[in-house]
Amino acid sequence: MELTGKTAIITGAGRGIGKVIAQKLAQLGANIVINDIPSSEDADKTAAQINKDGGKAIVIKGDVRSSEDVQALVDGTKETFGSIDILVNNAGITRDTLMMKMSEKDWDDVLDINLKGAFNCIKAVTRIMMKQRSGSILNVASVVGVMGNAGQANYSASKAGLIGLTKSAAKELAPRGITCNAIAPGFIQSDMTEKLSENVKELYMSNIPLKRFGTPEDVGNVVAFLVSENANYITGQVLHIDGGLVM
Ligand SMILES: NC(=O)c1ccc[n+]([C@@H]2O[C@H](COP(=O)([O-])OP(=O)(O)OC[C@H]3O[C@@H](n4cnc5c(N)ncnc54)[C@H](O)[C@@H]3O)[C@@H](O)[C@H]2O)c1
Repeated sequence: MELTGKTAIITGAGRGIGKVIAQKLAQLGANIVINDIPSSEDADKTAAQINKDGGKAIVIKGDVRSSEDVQALVDGTKETFGSIDILVNNAGITRDTLMMKMSEKDWDDVLDINLKGAFNCIKAVTRIMMKQRSGSILNVASVVGVMGNAGQANYSASKAGLIGLTKSAAKELAPRGITCNAIAPGFIQSDMTEKLSENVKELYMSNIPLKRFGTPEDVGNVVAFLVSENANYITGQVLHIDGGLVM
């Protein structure tokens, strides 16, 4: 796999899965734009690490909920690197609780970041990708967007919505040579899953045929393939990275 000369925006890339995706794409030669929330110090550290390791990364912070911030992200990327070839919509949050206790704010925050954020980014990059007549968009969904999960109505709905958005974008953008796919990770070790109780972790483990939790590297390797030219006849697909949890 070879991404030399390509430019990739990865949202929420300061830490966790997004950080590892950014590192992996940088190792393959892509210019990297690290996006994360305006207060993120992780974003600067991740970019510094990539540059130290011989890659090329810049940071453009901004909240994916804001179409102005997203436009600034896209404009800054174009200005620095001249093209946008890859967009990875990775930024995401959880606000887990049972529906009867879920506040309207918990619902709105999760839908706004996980789903509307991805829409904002896709909308902003497509103008450039359509002119280029090439591009690759990868949305980070989740297995719970496919199977649902008690206590995650907001998160599951956002990820199911992201899968619908992926398929619609794939159909809309295919005539211009742009692919759009999603991944559905299962339980991946990160700050997001670290806060889950031992009971929940044990329950997940008992249902994973490969009998281990995933790592951000497991995800990064698949993303690298899906955004590379090796995958340019794949679009509108949802690839599960879950040790066999959903099949
Ligand atoms: N960890 C898992 O098991 C798992 C499983 C399935 C899917 N996912 C998805 O993978 C993605 C990354 O998850 P993670 O586990 O690395 O989580 P994480 O919490 O470690 O990282 C998420 C990153 O997104 C950033 N972010 C949050 N809101 C943002 C906003 N409004 N604008 C820009 N950036 C924002 C955060 O600051 C953080 O750096 C998420 O979309 C998550 O839903 C994770």
